[in-house]
Amino acid sequence: MPPKTASKPGQAVPKGDVSAPQRADEGIRRIEWAAREMPVLRLIRDRFAKEKPLAGVRMSACLHVTAETANLARTLVAGGADLVLCASNPLSTQDDVAAALVEKDGIPTFARRGEDHDTYYRHIVAALSHAPTITMDDGADLVSTIHSKYTDLIPKIRGSMEETTTGVIRLRAMARDGALRIPVVAVNDTPTKHLFDNRYGTGQSTIDGILRSTGVLLAGRTFVVAGYGWCGRGLAARARGMGAQVVVTEVDAVRALEAVMDGHRVMAMAEAAPHGDLFCTVTGDKGVLRREHFEKMKDGAILCNSGHFNVEIEIPALEAMAEEVRKNVRSNVDEYRLKDGRSLFLLGEGRLINLAAAEGHPAAVMDMSFAVQALTTEWVARGRERLPARVHEVPAEIDAEVARVKLRALGVRIDTLTKEQDEYLKSWKEGT
Ligand code: ADE
Repeated sequence: MPPKTASKPGQAVPKGDVSAPQRADEGIRRIEWAAREMPVLRLIRDRFAKEKPLAGVRMSACLHVTAETANLARTLVAGGADLVLCASNPLSTQDDVAAALVEKDGIPTFARRGEDHDTYYRHIVAALSHAPTITMDDGADLVSTIHSKYTDLIPKIRGSMEETTTGVIRLRAMARDGALRIPVVAVNDTPTKHLFDNRYGTGQSTIDGILRSTGVLLAGRTFVVAGYGWCGRGLAARARGMGAQVVVTEVDAVRALEAVMDGHRVMAMAEAAPHGDLFCTVTGDKGVLRREHFEKMKDGAILCNSGHFNVEIEIPALEAMAEEVRKNVRSNVDEYRLKDGRSLFLLGEGRLINLAAAEGHPAAVMDMSFAVQALTTEWVARGRERLPARVHEVPAEIDAEVARVKLRALGVRIDTLTKEQDEYLKSWKEGT
């Protein structure tokens, strides 16, 4: 639960809280490198700078503080938003980028890589001290903190955007319970987000995180992917592409069947546990890898998570089973020496390995996700009336626009329907 703090909504927000202000120049270089791969966001930023659709909007955003997020932040500010940023995960912050945002862009940013639980929530509360009229979340910690501790902010909030699957699941649970009191837009659910970000972004960056932290050869290894949603699909495809033998575990029969038809081996985790050399959870649920699985795993098995929260691997059970925990046997690798002599290796403390040990999704996919975020923010800000307090979909036109601009930036042209084709699709009279 978030700690009580002295911050009050509407108080002047301090300049931020970052670990390494002296690294701002490094951060700027990283932000500019990412910008080269984000043409859709660049176009939106140019338009925003002219039209100022977000003038008067007070925004608090809880996102992974990365170079890609910095480009989104610059876009929102170009549009006139008065923005404050905080981290959406204790291990995902790029400290040089956070420094650049504070020192060079003057965007109050509260994010320190490796921050503890109290600091994490202190930062969320600092972002809320801004008394936002629009919020943006990655995992729904901001919205849930507003609903549990800062309900006085609710009447002024016009809407919130949610970036990730786990956050949308949480928000739908709030809506089902009748607890949701602000309109939220499920950015994650729009095709130009999850089809690319979740599938190709998570697929590549998770492998990147595993390789940066361990350097292991994937070819010939048994790679167990828990969960065959969009992230799991992408990860399984990339692991196979590097020569791993992929095993998928699932609870959903249709997804499991899809994994079978995609050519993967599918089995229950209890069966997979003794075979896996590497395990990666991407389910959004808790306790996916637990004691009964650890008990059967091979000596040397590598465990990691690429789902939003660090609950997918039951770390307390691992700790209880361990005779000794050797931290950082390599950067981002902890060794759990079990009483029976086996060692299991946990990566990135069970936090999302693609951001803990690598740089998150490549800028080229975040370009689309964050273009949707920027355009949806504009849509919420420009709306004449506050939307009803429920989970909303992104308007289809925003999705189509992002796809069109991305294709143009990639130099890809597509066909248009002829008049006859268009009429054919609209008529029911022509048949066999
Ligand atoms: N989520 C996954 N990858 C990310 C990135 N590079 N920046 C911000 N959020 C992310």
